[in-house]
Amino acid sequence: MCLRFFSRMFCLALLTLAASAQAAYVWLPSAPPKEIEARLARLQSDAVAHKAAIAAGKRAAFFCAHCHGETGISLLENIPNLAGQNAFFLLNQIDMFGDGRRKDDFMSGLVKVLKPDERFNIAVFYAAQPVSPTPAANRAQAVAGGKHYARACVGCHGANGYGTREIARLAGQRPGYLITALTDYRNGTAGRADHRMTGVAQKLSDAEIAALAIYLGTLP
Ligand code: HEC
Ligand code: HEC
Repeated sequence: MCLRFFSRMFCLALLTLAASAQAAYVWLPSAPPKEIEARLARLQSDAVAHKAAIAAGKRAAFFCAHCHGETGISLLENIPNLAGQNAFFLLNQIDMFGDGRRKDDFMSGLVKVLKPDERFNIAVFYAAQPVSPTPAANRAQAVAGGKHYARACVGCHGANGYGTREIARLAGQRPGYLITALTDYRNGTAGRADHRMTGVAQKLSDAEIAALAIYLGTLP
């Protein structure tokens, strides 16, 4: 995966870091869902603590910026934007990479260098960053995507594509990543197997996936 994006030297450094992290570390889950939610809710009513968590998260995410960008707008079309994503979802996905429920050559190793507090603050930092929608080159395709969305996705991901808790925000996500993620769920090649998504994705054609990705990319 890495060589698609970066130089050989950078990939080697990443793989070494990922491997050493994997060897040295026992994964500790972040916290029970109720505790995470309570902690996130407390930040909503404490602006000073929220600001401090964002600042700490930005520092802890310095390495992530190589791929996900300084403010969570990813540098490449196939890498997900993290900006504006739900904090609970981000933390949950980090935990899934950590304990093996979601697999990716790099992410699975990289998250292991993060302490539970760093993961929490990183999730709060990215969640607070503005999204960057992609205008549709083809209006008709976006309109078709909106119809598929209303039919098949709105029940879980919401009218605006904001998601909730462990359901991803899709609004303003990179179309390239959406296509990859949906195709991988459909074909059983995703490094994750959430039955709610694999069931839906199996019913989608390539053209429907492309239209959905274009439409969702345009949403603010
Ligand atoms: C080498 C590039 C690279 C680096 C560095 C990197 N990521 Fe990722 N990240 C990816 C890719 C590629 C994916 C998509 C993986 C997949 O398809 O399952 C991803 C996925 C994610 C996801 C899931 C997002 C979603 O919408 O499902 C989270 C959360 C995440 N990364 C957090 C981080 C954090 C935190 C760091 C820093 C510790 C980091 N990443 C560093 C490439 C990278
Ligand atoms: C029954 C509820 C449900 C429905 C319906 C649903 N989703 Fe999802 N979706 C989820 C959940 C839950 C996740 C997180 C899954 C995981 O952790 O792997 C998710 C994740 C995703 C992701 C991965 C996002 C990321 O950042 O990694 C994409 C893309 C996605 N959904 C697109 C869609 C589209 C497009 C539709 C309609 C065709 C749809 N979903 C319908 C529940 C649903």
